[in-house]
Amino acid sequence: MLGLLLLLQVLASCLWLGHSEVVPFFADCRQFFYARILPSDALHPENPAWICQWYRNSYHYATLYDRDRRIPVYSAYIYQPGSGQRHHTWSFVEPQVNESYPKEMEREWVLRHQYKFPIDKIKQSQAVLEDYKKMTGLDRGQLIPSGHQDSTDSKTATFTLTNTVPQNSDLYTGRWNTYESQIMPTYTMNCTTTYVITGAVPGKIYVADGRVNKPSHIWSAACCLVGTQPKKAWGLIAENDKNQVENLSLGELEATLTEFYGGKTVTLFSKACPRQ
Ligand SMILES: *[C@@H]1O[C@H](CO)[C@@H](O)[C@H](O)[C@H]1NC(C)=O
Ligand SMILES: *[C@@H]1O[C@H](CO)[C@@H](O)[C@H](O)[C@H]1NC(C)=O
Ligand SMILES: *[C@@H]1O[C@H](CO)[C@@H](O)[C@H](O)[C@H]1NC(C)=O
Repeated sequence: MLGLLLLLQVLASCLWLGHSEVVPFFADCRQFFYARILPSDALHPENPAWICQWYRNSYHYATLYDRDRRIPVYSAYIYQPGSGQRHHTWSFVEPQVNESYPKEMEREWVLRHQYKFPIDKIKQSQAVLEDYKKMTGLDRGQLIPSGHQDSTDSKTATFTLTNTVPQNSDLYTGRWNTYESQIMPTYTMNCTTTYVITGAVPGKIYVADGRVNKPSHIWSAACCLVGTQPKKAWGLIAENDKNQVENLSLGELEATLTEFYGGKTVTLFSKACPRQ
């Protein structure tokens, strides 16, 4: 009996620990941004969730999430590929998107059945698995792919729908995948630390019964440090309806995003990262 009470207490505290965890401007996970500098606020959506992606007692990356469009704006992380085995392939949903839910990402069915969270409440401010099942020609494109993380836990932590956008299937399995799995390892060969920000430009089309925005473009930017000095940076962007990517300098990518975001200046990294 005592054991059961204790268990209930632990469950209850797990459930409510997270109250203060949706902190604006990533106060608890700035370490995923070079020099702790965030991208400019031109990217901020009207209704943001600042998610420090927490799983098994540590932060793994940061995601700015757009609750209205139910897609992330970007995920920011440190590139550290490794051989950890990912043991789950299902997607988490993120209780933090609603500040009254627990801190740790959780599987949808656990939230529904174990914590008795009504699916309608989860669905209010984020996409759910059911949404992605309704899409055709689109895959669950993860902004930070599991292959860019090293440990089992950090790989597993990428499988959350707050890190996911509807991505053109040909692009997902084609050029984007080539960039993530083959080009990235060569570009970063001499880098001591590589900071990455990968994002999606909101599009005009909504899928899954109008619930989830289909991004018009998907982009990624990286700043490579040798020792502690930023030595090079690069970017790329892809239209989200064909299997094609464009290589850009960091400066060109920022200028392109500035246009897409209505002329408000987009900067992604500290001034110290080379723009050319
Ligand atoms: C969060 O959940 C509460 C209670 O379920 C709900 O009233 C509120 O509207 C939700 N907030 C957001 C931003 O979805
Ligand atoms: C890495 O450094 C070696 C030796 O200086 C150089 O030949 C090579 O081009 C560099 N690779 C990249 C991707 O910068
Ligand atoms: C972009 O750069 C990579 C690596 O240098 C190259 O393999 C690829 O063909 C380039 N893509 C385009 C569209 O130029």
